[in-house]
Amino acid sequence: MMSRFRHLISIEELSKGDVEYILSKADEFEDIAKKSFSDILKGKLLGNLFFEPSTRTRMSFETAMKRLGGEVINLNTAEISSIAKGETLADTIRVVSGYVDTIVIRHPKEGSAKLAAEFSEVPVINGGDGAGQHPTQTLLDLYTIWKEGDINDIRIALVGDLKYSRTVHSLIKALSLFNAEIYLVSPEALRLPIQFREELGNNVVEVDSLEDIIGEINVIYVTRIQKERFPDLDEYHRVAGSYRITRKMLENGEENLIVMHPLPRVDEISPEVDATAHAMYFKQAFYGVPVRMAILSEVMGYG
Ligand code: NCD
Repeated sequence: MMSRFRHLISIEELSKGDVEYILSKADEFEDIAKKSFSDILKGKLLGNLFFEPSTRTRMSFETAMKRLGGEVINLNTAEISSIAKGETLADTIRVVSGYVDTIVIRHPKEGSAKLAAEFSEVPVINGGDGAGQHPTQTLLDLYTIWKEGDINDIRIALVGDLKYSRTVHSLIKALSLFNAEIYLVSPEALRLPIQFREELGNNVVEVDSLEDIIGEINVIYVTRIQKERFPDLDEYHRVAGSYRITRKMLENGEENLIVMHPLPRVDEISPEVDATAHAMYFKQAFYGVPVRMAILSEVMGYG
């Protein structure tokens, strides 16, 4: 069967129809994701190439692949593979794409997934490239919003590190497909870069505090300060700990307000929020499995 896309590098490559298709496929895969197995990807091999730390992205891809009957090989930490000997990314990709049927890559440099796709014989999925894109996270974020309410015309606050957060940079592009109203809440030093704001036009407003708009929104999307992207650690220390979602703040929100976070969380959501009906971040992390099942089966032609 023809795939709707070969590689998945940036969320902008997908049309609204493609996104909706992946969400409905993910819904079909949910039963398998809940601790069952199938043989849809039997005989297929996934190569996980993670050049940056990861828990959820790597493990949910691995879970998705194995629950669909496929196999996974992982690049050993870059320090003990040939990367440490000075091998270029292009060469690593040329070689690994001869071993596997699909590659997932996470890399600290923006643009590296695109480069990998140029040298790969097999589909490449971007698992996060620097402060660039994280399209599979976006699809699972959209899936969460879709499953927990309505995805059209939502009012969403993006909170935290809007400068370096690739999950925000990806999500914000997809939200415009669904006519979202977007509120930006961040410390001054971590504002959304100007090019994103210009692209979004009237659908986006910057606000000083979450409290001012908490009664008007359906979704709060919180991000961690991306410490590893700061060129200067002093700058990080100036903003560290500068925002935190508390249970008290949520008392003024709508009953159906959901709080999302791509995780890992450091201190930006108080643990007391976990027990409220608003907390959606752990369920969101689970949704990574059916969504990645849908993506993997799509690029390998079993959509
Ligand atoms: C995010 C990432 O790597 O961009 N994590 C994830 O994939 N769930 C968010 C983060 O690291 O803060």
